[in-house]
This record gives sequence, C-alpha cells and structure tokens, in this order.
Amino acid sequence: MTPEISHIIKIHDQEFETYISYNSIQERTSEIADRINADYAGKKPLFIGVLNGVFMFAADLLKGITLTTEISFIKLSSYRDTASTGNIQQLIGLKEDITDLDIIILEDIIDTGETISNVVKNLKQLGPRSVEIATLLLKPEIFKKNIPLKYVGFKIPHKFVIGYGLDYNGLGRNLKDIYQIKQPQEY
Ligand code: IMP
Ligand code: MG
Repeated sequence: MTPEISHIIKIHDQEFETYISYNSIQERTSEIADRINADYAGKKPLFIGVLNGVFMFAADLLKGITLTTEISFIKLSSYRDTASTGNIQQLIGLKEDITDLDIIILEDIIDTGETISNVVKNLKQLGPRSVEIATLLLKPEIFKKNIPLKYVGFKIPHKFVIGYGLDYNGLGRNLKDIYQIKQPQEY
C-alpha cells in the first residue's frame, strides 16, 4: 500500500511521508462499497458522515454505492461542562428523522474510539433500526471500546497521519494521499 516513490512534506513543525497512496485508498474504498451494496441489498440505508475529516472518504465511497440511499453529515461540538470535569460532545446538524432507518456512520479515522462511541450513543437514542460503522482508518493498538466496527479500510499503527481529509492543526486535508508522521510523537 506504500507508494513506490516516497514523498516528504513539512506541515507546521512536522515532517510527513507518503504512507497510503490515493490508488490504494480507491481500491479499498470500492471493495467496501461492494460489501455494503451486498449487505444492504433491498434496503435504503442512510449514511451519516462525521465532519470534517470524512469528506473525501464519504465522496469516494458513495460513488461506489448502487443502493437507493441518502447521505447526511454531522459534527460534534465539544465543550467543557463547567459543572463537571467531563468533556461533553453533542451532535449537531442532523435534520433527518432516523426512526427505523438503517444507519451507516462514516468516519475517517478511529483512534481511541471516544468520538465514535459518542456518535453511536447519541444516534441510538433516536430509534434507528440498525447502526453500523464504516471507517477508512483504525488504530487498533489504542481502540479499546467494545463497539463493533463492520467496515474498516486500513488498520494502521499508532502514528499520526494526515491527508485525504485528515488534518494536522488545520492543514493537510487537501492532500490526495495519506501521509504518516516521520518522528514518533505524543499527541
Ligand atoms: P478518537 O475519538 O480518539 O477515536 O479520535 C478521533 C478523532 O481524532 C478523529 O476524528 C480525528 O479528528 C482525530 N485523529 C485521531 N488520530 C488522528 C490522526 O492520526 N490524524 C489526524 N487526526 C486524527
Ligand atoms: Mg473524524
């Protein structure tokens, strides 16, 4: 999956090198689309993408979906509750009534799983028929949640990546390939 010619770029203070090529992403994405088409044959699932990072994966995956389907996007607004120490995350942007619908959540990356578990919990309260997850990337070394991930593009090590929608402090989302940080770092 690594591109033959490694390309190094600098974003802010960090160097990144090409890690997963656009072609590999396309191949894997169309395999996932085929599986979803088969698994949901005769159904009309609603895709719900978690912004911002998912915009490229959502666009490419949906091109391979042949089902009658809809897509919507949500954001998580994170704020610190002054009354508690917890970090409260709220879903914003969902206009659809998802009662009795088959939902496929689209994510760019699942790291600790905090984000996705919040999304699943919030969506399940709205009474959908089913909820499954499709994520382009997963960092299995740190994902410790007991949430089934039905569709996973690539399992990657615990190293920061950018590109194809993913950012480092706001930059790098527009890169066509996925890049991995050169120096291991805490984040
Ligand atoms: P989680 O809640 O720890 O699973 O993290 C999910 C979110 O953290 C993602 O939606 C990204 O916004 C961000 N994130 C986690 N790992 C990376 C990475 O390697 N590159 C860019 N963003 C990341
Ligand atoms: Mg994300």
